Amino acid sequence: MVNSSNEVNGGTFANFLKLKWRTSLKDPKLNTRHRIPNTVDDIERDWVRHSALKLAFEGDFKAPIQRLLQAGGSEVLDIGCGAGFWTSDMASRFPISYFTGVDIDKNVLPNSPSSRNIFYQRIDLIELPLPFEDDTFDYIFIRSMIDTLPDKMWDDVLKELVRIMKKGAYIECVEAYDNLFDAGPSMNTLTQLIQTTLQQPPESPTAYTTNHIPSSIKHNNPWPNRIANLSQLMGMQIYHTHTPVGLYGGAIGSLLLEYWERIVKSLQREWITQKLIAEDELDRTLEAMKDEVNEYNTYMSWYSVVAQKRGYIGPVIQFDDVDDFDVVHTTIF
Ligand SMILES: C[S@@+](CC[C@H](N)C(=O)[O-])C[C@H]1O[C@@H](n2cnc3c(N)ncnc32)[C@H](O)[C@@H]1O
Repeated sequence: MVNSSNEVNGGTFANFLKLKWRTSLKDPKLNTRHRIPNTVDDIERDWVRHSALKLAFEGDFKAPIQRLLQAGGSEVLDIGCGAGFWTSDMASRFPISYFTGVDIDKNVLPNSPSSRNIFYQRIDLIELPLPFEDDTFDYIFIRSMIDTLPDKMWDDVLKELVRIMKKGAYIECVEAYDNLFDAGPSMNTLTQLIQTTLQQPPESPTAYTTNHIPSSIKHNNPWPNRIANLSQLMGMQIYHTHTPVGLYGGAIGSLLLEYWERIVKSLQREWITQKLIAEDELDRTLEAMKDEVNEYNTYMSWYSVVAQKRGYIGPVIQFDDVDDFDVVHTTIF
């Protein structure tokens, strides 16, 4: 869908975003803290965060699945794939494995996948069981999803994901830790405003989203706690990365500064209308925040938790250090 020349299915990225944006989807079953569909702002912000995390984690994944995906025929599921940034990057890198991206919002899913090894499907995680056979997937990826469902629902969804994983398959969940670290006063003012927005009762079932608000201001039970409770999963490993927010932090810091600015810009109208802050004061706070993050060395922390489904009894697969692998260039189309 998106390639390095910023072309999307033959058009520009901006055109892609315009094309993707259609009318409102109203689903009364949704948790009231979620706004669906994703707006163009939400999608652009996902792209910024995707780019930052790719740099921060030095790649798209931490699970030891590189060789499996290179060998081909593996089935991968991206839960809550949004516009498919991760799915399409992975599918072009591993052209002979198969990638399924699922999301509740059919309007955010690409109309036509960027390659023939991608399949997008509209699925609401609230509607269990999921429409996949037992033991289907070799690898399941979930990123920035923890706050898209009520806390208690995730345990049921996770059990369901374990059911559709093959024995020996991996699951990987990537999320931000709960705090923005070393934030200064202006950043604190902004995060408090965001917090206030999230605490308000929504105007309608689809009015608010927590989909794109960083976990730094929300408190769901983190993935490792949930994974540790699933007896069918084993070998849990957690990888951490700290990401600067601000120009002081190079490419990652610049992207994450943009990410926070975009969050503020998406909510500022609401804050001003509700007189939570005056427009000129908000402008000053936002400008001050951009300098302040450099002075305070503000940062976020992220984790990727990987676990494997028990029960694989085939030949032992030796995984070398994944960094040593060459990418296999295979063209099948
Ligand atoms: C923050 S975005 C994450 C997108 C992508 N995983 C990424 O890392 O860029 C959350 C996504 O979850 C989707 N979502 C929210 N509730 C959902 C549900 N009940 N079932 C499936 N997808 C859902 C949203 O439509 C949105 O695309």
